[in-house]
Amino acid sequence: MTDTVYGPVTDWATDFDHGAPEYNANIYKIWEDLKAAGCPIAHTERYGGTWLPLTNEMVHEIAYDTEHFTSRSVVVGQLKPSEVPDALPAPIGGAPPITSDPPFHQEARRILLPAFAPKKIDPLRDEIRQMCHDLIDNMGDAELIDAAEQYAQHIPVMIIASMAGLPKEDGDIFRSWVHVILAGIGESREEREPVFLALNEYLEKAIEDHIENPRDDLISFLLEAEIMGNKLSREHVAGTIILLMVAGIDTTWSGIGNSIWHLATNPVDRRRLVENPEMLPMAIEEFLRAYAPVTMARLVKQDYEFHGVQMKEEDWVLLPFPAANRDEAKFENPDQVIIDREENRHAAFGLGIHRCLGSNLARLEMNVAVEVFLERFPDFELNTSEEMVWSTGQVRGPRQLPIRIKARK
Ligand code: HEM
Repeated sequence: MTDTVYGPVTDWATDFDHGAPEYNANIYKIWEDLKAAGCPIAHTERYGGTWLPLTNEMVHEIAYDTEHFTSRSVVVGQLKPSEVPDALPAPIGGAPPITSDPPFHQEARRILLPAFAPKKIDPLRDEIRQMCHDLIDNMGDAELIDAAEQYAQHIPVMIIASMAGLPKEDGDIFRSWVHVILAGIGESREEREPVFLALNEYLEKAIEDHIENPRDDLISFLLEAEIMGNKLSREHVAGTIILLMVAGIDTTWSGIGNSIWHLATNPVDRRRLVENPEMLPMAIEEFLRAYAPVTMARLVKQDYEFHGVQMKEEDWVLLPFPAANRDEAKFENPDQVIIDREENRHAAFGLGIHRCLGSNLARLEMNVAVEVFLERFPDFELNTSEEMVWSTGQVRGPRQLPIRIKARK
């Protein structure tokens, strides 16, 4: 495990670092200790000052409060947006609509809605099923597999590439970019900057090509879209495609991986789902609640007192939706994974105006991926002789998930 540029964490209440590898690997224990020590909102000077509220009530309040908190940058970085010379300003931001504030946000979100509506997404089921079967066929007869590397990571990237109109063969490159954007927040600027340049260059070429040869895909769709009678700028189109990669790849990879990890370590739940596959959609909702992959961030607009703490202008505030989902004030027995939980209004897809636009697609990918995995591998367990590796940064899920297959079909 490597430390971030800020060095080892000395105290999780006053010096936490969500980019440190031990954060995601021990997340539930860290929160439990913080809450037990009477700390519902932790603070660190790292990343120029960051807050970590842990209750459902606080996360809810911040997500709905666009007056005091801006979405201008939703991934905590070593530099504040005001320190980045060419950062696109509010209310648009670099990756609309997730980096946009009202009233522009609503317009940027509205143009994307039809592309992610059930009518567009549901027909992808057969393609995703086939993809999952192909990935499993490629594993041959191996008894030991890595379900994160050989399975979960490929499904969302192939779907996003095909929807955006980018070559599926470039999947590895997309994942490496997303990795630096999301997981590499604690790495040095020298390591990160060339990646951003390469990504922008790649998208500029792809947009150019789509202008010359329009087709039926998201890039062409965005190039034709209008906001208040004006075509979108190229920066807006590129920013939205980057957003879809960032929002759609590691998140869903994590959601699939978290579900398989749970089933590999909980044989009773695995058997129940193999015998009763109709329970799967409910189980997936519970995996989304209990192992919610996404924590987003906001910036404080102006100095603001929040639940007794003094936040300063441009402080980062993390929105740990996963912690909101484990608050006993909101859920009964929040730390128990109950795959037929009846009441489950979880916040895994966020709260308020930025609520996930890709939730139909994410749910479909997770349901199909786990359904096919259980069909083909009705019995499997965690292979404890190899290392299990969790992601770093704001999206949490297994990045190495060693599995021993005990029965296959
Ligand atoms: C399990 C998978 C996923 C999870 C847990 C997830 C979670 C989230 C969360 C928590 C937000 C709120 C962000 C905020 O408040 O700042 C969000 C927003 C968003 N997500 Fe997802 N997401 C997933 C998959 C996807 C997919 C597959 C796509 C599309 C390809 C997608 C597209 C978006 C977009 C465009 C937004 C921004 C919406 C807005 O700002 O109005 N997500 N997602």
